Amino acid sequence: AACAPGGTPTPDPTPPDTRPEGTFTDRWTLQEALQMPADAEKTAQTTMPLITSWPQGSQKTLPDQWVWDTWPLKTEDMQIATVRAADGTPYYVLIHLSVDDSVLPGARHDLATLRYSYSTDGRSWQPGGYLFPEGVVLGSRNWAGSALLKADGGVEVYYTATGERNEGPVQGPSSVLEHQQVGDVQGALTADGQLVPQSGSGFPNEGGIGFEQRIVLADGVKAEVVNGRVVFSGTWKHRVILRADGTLYQTVAQSDAGPLYGFRDPWAFRDPADGKRYVLFTGNMGGLKSQQTCQPEDLGDAAFRAGLGALNAEMPLHNGAVGLAVETAPGAWKLLNPLLTARCVNQELERPHLVMKGGKVYLFFSSHIGKFAPYGDLRDRGEEGLYGFVGDSLRGDYTPLNRGGLVLNTPLTQRYQSYSYDVLPGGLTTLFVDVPGIGNQDISVVSTLPPEQQRAVFGGTLGKTLKIDISGSSTTLVSELNYGQIIP
Ligand code: FRU
Repeated sequence: AACAPGGTPTPDPTPPDTRPEGTFTDRWTLQEALQMPADAEKTAQTTMPLITSWPQGSQKTLPDQWVWDTWPLKTEDMQIATVRAADGTPYYVLIHLSVDDSVLPGARHDLATLRYSYSTDGRSWQPGGYLFPEGVVLGSRNWAGSALLKADGGVEVYYTATGERNEGPVQGPSSVLEHQQVGDVQGALTADGQLVPQSGSGFPNEGGIGFEQRIVLADGVKAEVVNGRVVFSGTWKHRVILRADGTLYQTVAQSDAGPLYGFRDPWAFRDPADGKRYVLFTGNMGGLKSQQTCQPEDLGDAAFRAGLGALNAEMPLHNGAVGLAVETAPGAWKLLNPLLTARCVNQELERPHLVMKGGKVYLFFSSHIGKFAPYGDLRDRGEEGLYGFVGDSLRGDYTPLNRGGLVLNTPLTQRYQSYSYDVLPGGLTTLFVDVPGIGNQDISVVSTLPPEQQRAVFGGTLGKTLKIDISGSSTTLVSELNYGQIIP
């Protein structure tokens, strides 16, 4: 309640509608984000250990492949799922964005394909091959998502279909599949792994490759253990369940300026509070990007706003959102208002996901240094990190964790060493080794290196899992576990 002059509390005329389908959207304000520690203030509470070496060759998560965004098969209630062999042995499953490691690391997003691996201990992983070895895979490439093992044994994979065309059958298996999946790329993959798009096709901001993103659900299969191997039996059926609508969520056509938009990274779960099925995703605020402006509620309270310096015109080009959709009837999904937006703060709130603990909802996502809005030292405070918030309910009035929302940051001497964090129940947090090999240089140096050097500085494999303690409105990094470990 607001306080009238004289101190009498006046009731808030319109209490915010914080039901999941309600209109309230929390903001990661500029005022909050500037609370993140400056470099000199970063401590062991959030700073990840330096990555000095990482698995190579056959020791990588997938030999012969680059692997980056990864997620485990889960139950609908957000726990890690196991597929049982006939003798009762539990098997864990991981799904990976992957590409043949002959491809240059920078071209991987343009060729990403889903592969999986399985494990009986949640630590050492066996390659399972392509997740969708045949049938219709939507998009010219597939980006991040999530996967559920339902009570009846059925598997649902939610993923991002990026790029157009190639929405017919894909012939596989072999690395040829990946090259065929570059359906909308008018160009060629060179012998040294560089993708050379032809200009004049696709989305103009992105040099000839289509970047439209749709959220797809693939189901129709069961997971089984056959001869010590997890397999998916049945035929995958893929369909687009969510598209950006232009009002709540920006479309590719509305992304007319600034960095690329997002409508991706679906993370499916059932909310224990109401038993409904939801999907969280990476989005941007609807409307033409070039016409958005910083609003008071994006920035902070009146006192903070009064002290603000000049606002850079590029700030509102950063309008990231954590999106929400609900299943309204079996197979029917509806977009809801964003849970959180970050206009004039950050462009990309990637791979949003939840952990429920102590009656609270913890919301986590990853973001990059360069995706923070240009204001003061905001980009120096921001890192290739994990960010988090705590609320009382799904559409909570979220409070940033720690200082300003920073949960994990890379070491200051090696800022691009890891990315794409996934906090699992119990606080185990997976990540992939990104480009530790450039030390303290800016990420832009990578593309200037000769091809073999580009491969040498890149990890493309799961890093050592980190454990964070989550309590109240703070987190603490407590330990480092094995590469790709998902079970304590
Ligand atoms: C995070 C990310 C995801 C996306 C994928 C594309 O690392 O940007 O948001 O799904 O990578 O490769």
